[in-house]
Amino acid sequence: MKDKISVMIPEEELMKRVRELSEQISKDYEGQSVHLICILKGSVFFTCELAKRITVPVTIDFMQVSSYGDGTKSSGIVRITKDTDETVEGKNVIVVEDIVDSGNTLYFLLEVMKQKKPASLKLCSLLDKPDRRVKPVNVDYTGFVIEDKFVVGFGLDYAQKYRNLPYIGVVEEINE
Ligand code: IMP
Ligand code: MG
Repeated sequence: MKDKISVMIPEEELMKRVRELSEQISKDYEGQSVHLICILKGSVFFTCELAKRITVPVTIDFMQVSSYGDGTKSSGIVRITKDTDETVEGKNVIVVEDIVDSGNTLYFLLEVMKQKKPASLKLCSLLDKPDRRVKPVNVDYTGFVIEDKFVVGFGLDYAQKYRNLPYIGVVEEINE
């Protein structure tokens, strides 16, 4: 039997918000350029859609991190498994993430990034689940604030599945 997934944010609504975020970023960085750091793998879809609509010059790099925990919760111990290819020094860095949950990942990542002396540093996250926050993380550009539910789609996965869904869905029932 198939897993049951219900739609939380439909595709049209997602794309409308992505356009708004791109417009806001283009306005905020007028006359400058931005360096997007896409956090693999979850924010790949979001980064692409965002980048396509930003009207100031854009460069993109990738990072991957893993956090150890009991499977459902992150432990706060974060490890960089793929660092950026290019230096961030002197650049207007925007870290692009799929979701900020406990905040452990981004808290660690932003601290590491600050030490690399970017000209400016901001965080753009498609989703924000503030109810579960244990570390203070300020999201500069937020797509949607959502309630504490496990979501998939538009890059987000459940056991590596469902990243390709064009909408944000809630996993209601798992039938393995
Ligand atoms: P944090 O360190 O707890 O903020 O965890 C952030 C990471 O956990 C995200 O980048 C996701 O990979 C994952 N995550 C948190 N909530 C969800 C969810 O609802 N669906 C899928 N992945 C999630
Ligand atoms: Mg992620």
